[in-house]
Amino acid sequence: MTPEDKIEALVHEIYGDYARASIDAPVRDPRDARRILEEKFGLLADEKTIAITYAAFLARRPVLFEGPPGTGKTEIGEALLELWSGRRPFVLPCSENYDEYKVIGDFHPLMAMKKGFNEESFIPRPLLAAMILDTGVLIDEIRRSSEEFQNLLLDISDKRRIIVPELRRTFTARGVGFQMIFTSNPEDIAQNDLSDAFLRRVVRVRFTYPSREIEAKIIRIRSKRNPVIPPETTRAILDVISLLRRSGVQHKPGTAEAVLWARMAQEVAKLEGSNTVGLSHLAETGLSVLAKREEDEDEVREALSRVLGVRID
Ligand SMILES: Nc1ncnc2c1ncn2[C@@H]1O[C@H](COP(=O)(O)OP(=O)(O)OP(=O)(O)O)[C@@H](O)[C@H]1O
Ligand SMILES: [Mg+2]
Repeated sequence: MTPEDKIEALVHEIYGDYARASIDAPVRDPRDARRILEEKFGLLADEKTIAITYAAFLARRPVLFEGPPGTGKTEIGEALLELWSGRRPFVLPCSENYDEYKVIGDFHPLMAMKKGFNEESFIPRPLLAAMILDTGVLIDEIRRSSEEFQNLLLDISDKRRIIVPELRRTFTARGVGFQMIFTSNPEDIAQNDLSDAFLRRVVRVRFTYPSREIEAKIIRIRSKRNPVIPPETTRAILDVISLLRRSGVQHKPGTAEAVLWARMAQEVAKLEGSNTVGLSHLAETGLSVLAKREEDEDEVREALSRVLGVRID
């Protein structure tokens, strides 16, 4: 059924397929959500994180996932928004030049010249689409955006409405599916601070590196293919990773790197025709996966040699 409203009809036409219902029904119980995150998305999140996020949604507050790189903030955020609304969420990767024209709506220049700034020349963008389609929005790396942009988002989330002055219209959220999760990594360089006004309004969920046991489980569920990764290989991965997290390296490895290293070693083992992933495969791939900056190379080499017991060139 196409809505009668011109803008709503356009939103359905452009974004309806993207934000279609993706699961049978919204999942609003944190225990079910935890299980589905693991089974369907291959993501391990603790129930407390999910419960706080859901409680914030019910309290009509946006959530800020903050923590070191590669700890699942973006993927868990996206998956939780999907489970909550039952529809695919929109993902907006922030940059300094984000503004309302990029996220709410813009006017087609030629059409606007011919017909004026009105519904005929208006092009809806994802944030307005999310509100109309009642789905979530993941605003990734919020610290990379300007303060004006952050204020705009807060106003929208506070009042659950979007005003488009040129159209003389106010769009209001009708359901509870429209929610926002922001992600941020405070240690990232070249980015802005979050204002007090911003922090006052959001519910902050701190992400940290997972425990050894959980990280081993993540590696297991993310590298199920062949050749198999035996426990001693996983142990070596975790040993090197934990050494580097405590070291002075600039680029500290997240769970993302642990998973990538396991997968790379697996692929190299496969290319070599080996039916198991051993320490030699970790030695072959370690430096490329873990040393992302020239100045980290020596320390990464040292950690690899110490754990794997071989010289790394
Ligand atoms: N809790 C987790 N469960 C499963 N996989 C995880 C988890 N945390 C991290 N990963 C792995 O890390 C990868 C990257 O996760 P994601 O991009 O969500 O991290 P992030 O915290 O947003 O990182 P960044 O700060 O660099 O944006 C995932 O694809 C997955 O392989
Ligand atoms: Mg991210």
